[in-house]
Formats: sequence, C-alpha cells, structure tokens
Amino acid sequence: MSLANAARKAADGWIEIGALDEIPRQGARVVRTASGDIAVFRTLDDEVFALRDRCPHKGGPLSQGMVHGRKVTCPLHDRKVHLDTGIAVAPDAGCTARYPVRIEHGRVFLSLTAEDVGALASS
Ligand code: FES
Repeated sequence: MSLANAARKAADGWIEIGALDEIPRQGARVVRTASGDIAVFRTLDDEVFALRDRCPHKGGPLSQGMVHGRKVTCPLHDRKVHLDTGIAVAPDAGCTARYPVRIEHGRVFLSLTAEDVGALASS
C-alpha cells in the first residue's frame, strides 16, 4: 500500500500516512496533496522529516535524493538541504517548506500545515 493511499485524516488534524517501515532508511516516500507533493524522509537513525518535494534551487524532486545524516542531496545539481529546517546548506541559499511529522507506535503522522522557514532563509 502506498503512503498516499494509506493517508487518512486524524481527528486532531494530523493524517496517518502509513508505517515507518514503509519508508526506506536514508530514503523517502511522497505524499500527494492538493497543494503539491510532500517528501517524507527517514534517516539511518529512524528520524522522520517532511519537506515540500521541491528543491529550493530549481525545484528538483528532493524525495529522489540521497539522505545522509540530517540532510538530503538534491538529485539534479547536488545541492544539500537540511531536513530539519528545509534550508539549503551554505554557501547555497533558499529553503523549502517543512511540515510537522511524528511517529506513534510505528505509524507516521503528518500535519499539512507548513511551518514558515522563509524568514530564516532570507536573513
Ligand atoms: S534543483 Fe536541486 S540542486 Fe538544482
């Protein structure tokens, strides 16, 4: 079952998108929403982060990038993005929206309310 198909709305505004084990370590799965794709990443240490699936450089699909530590490398031009903030690693600039995500009993929950990181990236 894909994460997108498994997504269902929770009473508190979070959506359950499936099991943690459905996300490969050092990889990602895509959740398709009306406002665009969200990439849900899993690190080697089983941390989970969610970012808009658009690189801040030229919109590359971050979900297809390589996860290393708490960063992902964009598959198009190798720029790196912090998974916990969505901000490009210096000296590059820019950011992509991040989304709150949490794990409960091996299930992954996502909030579709983007956290604003634009102010941080432009400062
Ligand atoms: S689009 Fe991601 S590095 Fe260029």
